Amino acid sequence: MSTQPTTISAGAPAGVLADAYGRVATDLRVSLTDRCNLRCTYCMPAEGVPWLPGDEILTNEELLRLIGLGVSRLGITTVRLTGGEPLLRKDLVPLVAAIGALEPKPQLALTTNGIGLAHRAEALVDAGLDRINISLDTLDPETFTTLSRRRRLPDVLAGVRAAREAGLDPVKINTVLLRGVNDHEAPDLLRWAMAEGVHLRFIEQMPLDAQHQWQRDEMVTAVEIMERLSEVGPLTPERSDDRGSAPAERFVVGGTGYRVGVIAAVTRPFCGACDRVRLTADGQIRNCLFSRTESDLRTAMRAGASDDELAAQWIRAVAAKLPGHGIDDPTFLQPDRPMSAIGG
Ligand code: 5AD
Ligand code: SF4
Repeated sequence: MSTQPTTISAGAPAGVLADAYGRVATDLRVSLTDRCNLRCTYCMPAEGVPWLPGDEILTNEELLRLIGLGVSRLGITTVRLTGGEPLLRKDLVPLVAAIGALEPKPQLALTTNGIGLAHRAEALVDAGLDRINISLDTLDPETFTTLSRRRRLPDVLAGVRAAREAGLDPVKINTVLLRGVNDHEAPDLLRWAMAEGVHLRFIEQMPLDAQHQWQRDEMVTAVEIMERLSEVGPLTPERSDDRGSAPAERFVVGGTGYRVGVIAAVTRPFCGACDRVRLTADGQIRNCLFSRTESDLRTAMRAGASDDELAAQWIRAVAAKLPGHGIDDPTFLQPDRPMSAIGG
């Protein structure tokens, strides 16, 4: 054994998951299931979703082995649990507790649609959850049903409230605007977020729908979003050196001190500062939301691979990361998996 490395992330050597473009992955996004209790049109078809077979979904024990490897040996400092809908995993609270007990403890975040959060927010915080992002695209019950094909708006709002009451701060809200569906609601959503004391971020719609119906000219751009928001007050960009690797550009809403985020994933990609790597519910490493290849840690792990072998495979998968997603490139090909099976 060599001497203990001096690192910023106590225990794990920094810069292990590096790619050829100088980026280092430290933020692991783990999809816990591809299932969901909503059917948002920008993500899933109304019916006939081909679910991953149950025996291919990683167990908590398998997840912990891989996440533990990431944290203890590969420089992962943040673990974000996503789906599908991660709250659909019955064993979520013990999983959060077990991840929270890893050494060194990663920052632990959850991205959820909020349904079912009302009765689990407190238990999740007690188990070690640090941060939460809740998806909410509309405050209108009818629009919610059009957009997600389910009548669940009150459950989501109850989830947002429970997250705040459980002490999660900030509670971040992710909003996707669809032209002619909810784009007119941007100012109302902003006023609501200001009143609720939650952090609102608008995300440009990306080509990740299962139906492959995304169209560049249909997408509501960051510029349009800001035009709509300026109805509430003039927007002033936050100093750009505050952005770091965070994808959201933040704008101060005139006269309020409130900061609203805009994630221009398509029109102003932040691939050059990306620090993410993904693990799908069936145990595949994806070095990008849009990658066309995956590295199968599940098969390797179930075939008896050692920690050294799994770590080496993971390092190779990240090393092969491409410089950008290329959505604006005419040769762009949408990934085969939809967002629900990759994790946000
Ligand atoms: N484009 C942008 N954001 C999306 N999300 C899901 N699908 C898309 C898409 N096609 C969002 C969800 C959630 C987060 C995981 O990603 O609304 O907030
Ligand atoms: Fe479910 Fe999220 Fe997809 Fe909506 S966007 S269907 S909440 S996984």
